[in-house]
Amino acid sequence: MKDLIFATNNAHKLEEITSITKAHFRILTLNDIGFSGEIPETSLSIEGNALQKAEFIYKRFSTNCFADDTGLEVDALDGAPGVYSARYAGENASYTDNVVKLLEALKGIENRNARFKTVIALIIDGQPYFFEGIISGKISDSPKGTSGFGYDPIFIPEGYQESFAEMPSELKNIISHRGLATKKLTDFLLNKVKEHSL
Ligand code: IMP
Repeated sequence: MKDLIFATNNAHKLEEITSITKAHFRILTLNDIGFSGEIPETSLSIEGNALQKAEFIYKRFSTNCFADDTGLEVDALDGAPGVYSARYAGENASYTDNVVKLLEALKGIENRNARFKTVIALIIDGQPYFFEGIISGKISDSPKGTSGFGYDPIFIPEGYQESFAEMPSELKNIISHRGLATKKLTDFLLNKVKEHSL
C-alpha cells in the first residue's frame, strides 16, 4: 500500500479523505510522521498557501503529500476575509471572534453573497496538482446552529434555507467546498491507481 502524507492534524479532514481512499492508500498525518513544527503559510492566495504547505512537507520528507487551504470570500468586502479567514479578527482569534467581526462588517449591507473556496495541492514525484472546491451562498444576519466549525453558523449555502451549522454533517460534507475538492482529489488518486502510475 502506498503512503501519502496529508499535511494536517485535523481529525475531521483526515476521516473525510481516508473513508474514500483507504483501500489504496495509507494516509499519514503530521503527527504520524512526528512533525510538530510550524508550516509557513505566508502566501497571498489560497492556492499559494496550499502549495506552500505541500512543498514544505515534500522537501522535508521526500514523500508524496498534499495540503489544503480554505477561505471565505465575501463579495461586499472585496473577497475578504479570504486567505485571512482563520485570523480575520486577529492572530489568535476564536471562531466566534471572526463571526462577530464579519457580521459587524456587513451590518446594514444588503449584498450578502459569499463563497467558501478550498484548494488542495498534491505533490507526486515533485509535480504539483491542484483540486478546487467552491460553494456559493449568503452570510446570514445572525448565527444559527451548533454543528461544524468556523463560519458555519452564518453561512447559508445556495439552494438551502439553513446554515451549515444547522445541517447534518453528512450533508455538509457532500456539498461543501472541502467535500468537492476532496472528491476531485480522490478521483484523481484512484485513477492513478487504475493506470498503475502511482
Ligand atoms: P483552513 O485553511 O481549512 O484551516 O481554514 C481557514 C479558516 O477558514 C478556518 O479557520 C475557518 O475559520 C474557516 N473555514 C474553513 N473551512 C470551513 C468550513 O467548512 N466551515 C466554516 N468555516 C471554515
